[in-house]
Amino acid sequence: MIVTIDGPAGAGKSSVARKLAQALGYTYLDTGAMYRAVAWMALRQNIALSDAETLAELARTLPIRFGPLSPDGIQQVWIGEGDDAEEVTNAIRTPEVSQAASIISTHSPVRKALVKRQRQMALAAENGVVLEGRDTGTVVVPEAELKIFLTASPQERARRRAAELRAQGLEVSEEAMLKEQEERDVRDSQRTDSPLRRAPDAILLNTDGLDLDAVVQQILRLHEERCGQS
Ligand code: DC
Repeated sequence: MIVTIDGPAGAGKSSVARKLAQALGYTYLDTGAMYRAVAWMALRQNIALSDAETLAELARTLPIRFGPLSPDGIQQVWIGEGDDAEEVTNAIRTPEVSQAASIISTHSPVRKALVKRQRQMALAAENGVVLEGRDTGTVVVPEAELKIFLTASPQERARRRAAELRAQGLEVSEEAMLKEQEERDVRDSQRTDSPLRRAPDAILLNTDGLDLDAVVQQILRLHEERCGQS
């Protein structure tokens, strides 16, 4: 079965998608990490974030490798091949890379290249797959059997993301986080190509005040229902 989890930054998508994938024994695919990996490399190579064609070439060719999920739910991300591969798990999570990822994701050629790779990876998963992102239920795998759209209030989302970054040793204020998040929300939901929006057949879940386990349990019940129907 294909499950998609879409929604804005900080709605809890990553934690929920990872836990769900672990509980179901499904492959986990973090599509945002791929936009982040391309953005990270663009910053390193001083590629202008407005240069859609060069960025699209990077999106088509950049070797991005995901490690297995560790027991505590962290997924390693690697860029490069063989001995030259570099681990970027934390490096792609900085506020600078977040903004750059949001900017490069507005370019249609970049989206086209990454969506193609994401779709191939999702369809190649042998068991089932949980995809997480902004357009996974609308564009990447619109045929997914279970689609979830996660939201939470802007304050709650900023608080969670600041805490997440602090846990990685990065000091950020919730206020700065809220401002950065607002900019990203506007850009992600107003771009012309595949803006962040809820698929008509996605189930809306507001995670304000809900803990991770409660959200995962709710989705597991929906998954069981869908399994019963197919
Ligand atoms: O989910 P995230 O915060 O890691 O995503 C980083 C950026 O990548 C986000 O601001 C928009 C973009 N993105 C996208 O456009 N489509 C996706 N499916 C996933 C992420």
